[in-house]
Amino acid sequence: MNYSNERDYVLGTHEDELERLGLQHRAWREVVLDCWQNAGVTAGSSVLDVGAGPGYATLDLAQIVGPAGKVVAVERSTNFVNAINNAVRTAELSNVEVHELDLMKDDLPGGPYDFSWCRWVLCFVSDPNLLVKKISNALRPGGRAIFHEYGHYTTWEFVPARASHEEFRNHVIATWRESGGEPDTGQQLPRWLSNNGLAVRSIVPRIFCLSPGDYMWQWPAQFIQVHLLRLQELGKIDSGFADKVRSDLAAAEKENASFMLTPLVLEIVAEKR
Ligand SMILES: C[S@@+](CC[C@H](N)C(=O)[O-])C[C@H]1O[C@@H](n2cnc3c(N)ncnc32)[C@H](O)[C@@H]1O
Repeated sequence: MNYSNERDYVLGTHEDELERLGLQHRAWREVVLDCWQNAGVTAGSSVLDVGAGPGYATLDLAQIVGPAGKVVAVERSTNFVNAINNAVRTAELSNVEVHELDLMKDDLPGGPYDFSWCRWVLCFVSDPNLLVKKISNALRPGGRAIFHEYGHYTTWEFVPARASHEEFRNHVIATWRESGGEPDTGQQLPRWLSNNGLAVRSIVPRIFCLSPGDYMWQWPAQFIQVHLLRLQELGKIDSGFADKVRSDLAAAEKENASFMLTPLVLEIVAEKR
């Protein structure tokens, strides 16, 4: 597998990661549909999908806003932009626009929008406050910015604890920071929103206590499998350590009454003044 031919992004944009993002979206889908509905996304809404990845949320949003509405997806990875365009063609959607751009360097297209949706993106960009400012400028007065960002990544743990998992999690956090991102951006987001003309309407913690049989268990479990390969590719871990993390995950899945706490996500909705 060659991870080095796409632009620099710590999680990568290869095929495994594209599939992982799909499973992640399906695991979170019910939570997200509720979140959008509570924020007011409805038929006819215009929505900017910021850092859309391969477009799993884009497609759901396009179905919700319908032909009278519009979804504009912006994403830097060519692989992911191609995936969105293919999915839009397959679903025969006429209300989606896709733009390949860099959120740090380029202007956001079009607007003003009724809503923006931004999930697990602020935590990867070098200047999240600048992105919040761009999002604010793209919204109409009364428009709403909706975010899902990590608020406390180290809540992610197995019970009983697994030392190899903690070490793996620390590698994830370290490579994330080395690439210029910050996992716990959700904590600073309310301040950036308020500095950029957006009034916070709600902050909801999203954390799950999972058993191996729960579908959502597959979200962190698949992240471990895919990201072990990525950390090896980046030269951060060796195959012996990767095997130990995999066998501890398999043991946790077999152990009676074991469970997992997920990394805390903050669901934040703010309104343009
Ligand atoms: C963890 S993925 C989340 C994707 C999508 N929001 C979702 O929830 O499935 C982060 C996304 O942000 C994109 N991204 C990171 N930095 C970016 C930048 N500077 N400009 C545009 N997109 C960026 C990545 O390419 C990736 O698709």
